[in-house]
Order: sequence, then C-alpha cells, then structure tokens
Amino acid sequence: MLAGDYGRSTRKAMEILTALGTIYAADRMVPVASVQIAGVSFDNLGEAGLDFLSEMAAGGGQVCALTTLNPAGMDIENWEALGIDADFAHNQQRVIEAYAKMGVVTTCSCTPYLFGNLPHFGEHIAWAESSAVCYANSILGARTNREGGPSALAAALTGRTPRYGLHLDENRRPGLTVQIEAALNGTRDFGALGVAVGRAIEARKEKAIPFLRGIPAATVDQLKSLCASIATYGGLALFHMEGITPESARFSPPDETLVIGQGDLDEAICSLDASLAGGEVDFVSLGCPHLSLSEIQRVAALLQGKRVRKTFWITTARPTKRIADQMGYTAVIEAAGAVFAVDTCCVVAPIKGRFKALATDSAKACYYAAAKNGFATRFLPFDEVIEEALK
Ligand code: F3S
Repeated sequence: MLAGDYGRSTRKAMEILTALGTIYAADRMVPVASVQIAGVSFDNLGEAGLDFLSEMAAGGGQVCALTTLNPAGMDIENWEALGIDADFAHNQQRVIEAYAKMGVVTTCSCTPYLFGNLPHFGEHIAWAESSAVCYANSILGARTNREGGPSALAAALTGRTPRYGLHLDENRRPGLTVQIEAALNGTRDFGALGVAVGRAIEARKEKAIPFLRGIPAATVDQLKSLCASIATYGGLALFHMEGITPESARFSPPDETLVIGQGDLDEAICSLDASLAGGEVDFVSLGCPHLSLSEIQRVAALLQGKRVRKTFWITTARPTKRIADQMGYTAVIEAAGAVFAVDTCCVVAPIKGRFKALATDSAKACYYAAAKNGFATRFLPFDEVIEEALK
C-alpha cells in the first residue's frame, strides 16, 4: 500500500496510519472489522476538509471494511424544512457524494450500533465519534481508539489500524473504583452521572479508567446517554460497569475509590440547568445520541393527539426513521408539529443565532449548545422535555 500499488489514496491513507503508528510506538497493524467516520458536517469540515475528501475520492480510494458516517450538518432528504440554506446544503451534498464514491455507507448517525454497524466483543475497529467510541469499547467490548476524521478514513481505505492504546489489553485496565450511591432514573440521570464522573476524572492529575459499581441495571438508551456524557465531560473512551459491561468480569475493583452520591448528581443536573436564568425555552431537541426506536415510540405515545408550541427536533438515523414511518410513529409525531431532523443533530447543524434556549435530556447536547451556539440550556428528564415542547 505504501509503495502505491493500490493507488494514490490508499498510499496516502497508509502514510497517515504509519505516521500514527510510529508516534504511538505500535508494534504492527491490525485488521479492522468496521469503521465509523466523524468529520461529516460541512460546518466542521469547511472547504479544506471537503478538498481533502474530494482528493481521496478522486485518487480511487475504496473502503475495505464496513464504514458508516457520523451525523451531517443537515437532513440529507429534508434540509429545507430545517431552515438550512441552499449553499450549505450544496456543500454538504458534495461531502456525502465524496464519501459515497469511496464506498462508505452514507447513513449519518452516531448510533451505528443500533442498525447494522455492530462490532462484537474483542473485535478491532476504528471509530471516531466520541460517544460511539465509548459505547463500542465499554458496552460492546470492541476495541478502538478515538480516531480523528482522517485516521478513521485511512483505516477504512486500508482495512487496518495501528495496534496501540485501547487495542492492547494492558491499556484497558481500570484505575479507579467509582461507587454510585444515587438513584438513576432514565437517560437524563445517566447523563448527569457521566457529568459527575467525567468531571471528577478530569480533575485528577492522571486520568484513570473508571470501574463503576452500584448500578443494578441499565438499558441501551441509558447507556448511550452515559457514554456520550462521560466522553464529553471526562474525555473517556472506556469505562467498566460491574455486572453490566462485558469486560468488567475480567477485573477486580481498584483499591482507590471515589463515591458519587445523590448530591453530586443533583449538582451536575443544576450546573446544566442554571444557564437558563429565567429565560424562555424556544428550542426542544431529543436524540443526542440519536434516538432509538423505543425512544421514538415513547415520543409518539406522549405526543398522540397533542400539539407542540416550540420548535421540536427529533434527531435519529435514517434506518430508525424508516421503521418509525412504517409503524405510524412518524405520522403521530409530525401531526403534533414536531420535526424529524434525520442524519443530523442539534450540535452539528448550523443553527447558531436561531434560538436562545434549548431543552433536552442530553448532557452532551447541553455542553455544545452552550459552547458552540451560545444557547442557554434546560436539562430535563426525557418525558419532561416533551412536556416543555407542549407548553
Ligand atoms: Fe450524536 Fe450529535 Fe449528540 S453526533 S452524540 S447527536 S452531538
């Protein structure tokens, strides 16, 4: 590949991977079972990113492993309804076309594990989106570093990634026991747990992989919320959860222990809710990470026969939306005035300046709503987010 026998894009891709492997002292490359690429929204990529992708596509690059995309800056099929301008839409389409030309599955979602890009225990993969990386490592027990856009694309075009970091057993060991002594009810609370644990880990001199104890059960939706939050607030790509995550049985709880109590959870919730300061919510969004089918079912049940009074985005993946269409959930949700924002989300879409305050159940969405778009935030339980849209 390096010699150019497979074309100039594959050579460029292997140059990126060998450079990374050299920096991190990898002993060899490993084949990857799947790839997930971030850096899809034109809002983040800009012209320079689009030029790089166009160049790789023109150079004959073709993916060698199942590869899916992170959310784009708009709903690919329904961008006008979201108020996206035509120039942006044109550039976003060029990004998607470049990926399609290389054989990438152009389903744009941060939850690829919900619809077919589902690695299993111990498989090496190269994923980029931080919440999905955390989910793949922690919940599925697959192995990936947090790739950047170019290194994930390089892994896709070569089917390889350098073996270092979280691909190695010794780097997956927990370094800190976190004892949870708080009630966790629903996605908002699991997001708040990610805030509390993430901030505590960030505050330490040395980062440690946490071994969470005291959580009796967790659903897929709650776990995806926790993964998004702990990755955002603690920069973590892996945690273990006793009795729940597959690798937790391999380890004993580390001696050093941190206790997270109800007060810590309440503080985390308040810290994301305080920024509203009495203002009016004018934007409501569920689906960070992208909503699962069961979450959409719940939204439909709560909106049945009602009418929302605020802009309300339901963000999810195209395949999930198609099942929602088939089941009649979409019709109920749209009849209530909520809008599906498929392939995108309230963070990567170019909506700065359009709203003042966001209500959501996602700690990650709160972080970026404030940091990227300057929105105030309300951080509410799932059902209350829907109530907020109806007020
Ligand atoms: Fe996914 Fe967008 Fe949230 S990419 S995790 S919905 S910020």
